[in-house]
Amino acid sequence: MLRGTRIETPLDAPTIHTARLTLRPHRLTDADAWYAIQRDPMVLEFLAWPRRTRAESFQHLKDRTRHTRLLQSNDLLALAIERDGRLIGDVSLHLRTVSADVRSAEIGWLLGSAHTGEGIATEAGDAMLDLAFGRLGAHRVYAVIDGRNHKSLALASRLGFAVTHHRDDGNFVLLVTPSLRRRPFPVALPAAPLPRTIAADAPQHSPRLRQAPLR
Ligand SMILES: CC(C)(COP(=O)(O)OP(=O)(O)OC[C@H]1O[C@@H](n2cnc3c(N)ncnc32)[C@H](O)[C@@H]1OP(=O)(O)O)[C@@H](O)C(=O)NCCC(=O)NCCS
Repeated sequence: MLRGTRIETPLDAPTIHTARLTLRPHRLTDADAWYAIQRDPMVLEFLAWPRRTRAESFQHLKDRTRHTRLLQSNDLLALAIERDGRLIGDVSLHLRTVSADVRSAEIGWLLGSAHTGEGIATEAGDAMLDLAFGRLGAHRVYAVIDGRNHKSLALASRLGFAVTHHRDDGNFVLLVTPSLRRRPFPVALPAAPLPRTIAADAPQHSPRLRQAPLR
C-alpha cells in the first residue's frame, strides 16, 4: 500500500538503557506481564483500549512485537518499559509528519499502576524524546491526552509539553519542541498560570500547563 513519502533512514527499535530502566522491543515472553497491564483498571481508565481477554491480549502483544520501525506516516514504534527484568509499561512513537523540515511524532505512555509515582514514566518519556529529537529528526512531538487524565497531563508538563488546543472530544493536544523541553524535571508542578483557553474548561485539580507558542 502506498502511504506517501518515506524518511531517509528508517528508525528501527533500539534498546535504550536509562538510570533505572531498559526500553526495548516487546517480546512474546512478556505475555503474562502484558495481560496484567491490560487488566489494570487504572491503565484502562482513559485509554481507548477495550478490556481484552488473555487471547486478545496475546494477539495485541504479538502486533506490538512487530511495531519496530518508523519509515512512513502513521508507523508505530512501541517499546516495552522494563525494570529489574520485568515489563512494567510501554512507551511509543507514531510517526505523523514525514517531511524532514516539519517532521513530527506523537508519543504515548502507560505504566502498570504498581509502578506509578516514582518518576518511571518521566524517565521513559524523556528517553523517547531523545530518540524522537535525535535519531528520528523530529521537530515536534505531540501528545493527545484526555482532559480528565491528570496524571498524564502532569507527566507531559514535567517533560515540557505545552497545550496547543483543546479538542471537542475532551482531549487536550500538547506539543514539545527541543526548546520547550524541561530538564531536570520539576517534580512539583510548574507555577505558571493555566493558559486561558484551558483554564476555562479544565477540571479544578488539573495540572498547570503551559500554552504552546502560536505560529
Ligand atoms: C500517565 C502515567 C504513565 C503517569 O504515570 P506517573 O507514575 O504519574 O508518572 P511518573 O512515573 O513520571 O511519576 C510521577 C510521580 O512520581 C514522583 N516522582 C518521584 N521521583 C520522580 C522523578 N525522579 N522524576 C519525576 N517524578 C518523580 C512525582 O512527584 C509524581 O508523583 P505524584 O503523582 O504524586 O505527583 C500513568 O498514570 C498511566 O500509565 N496511566 C494509565 C495509562 C494512561 O492513561 N496513559 C496515558 C494516555 S494519554
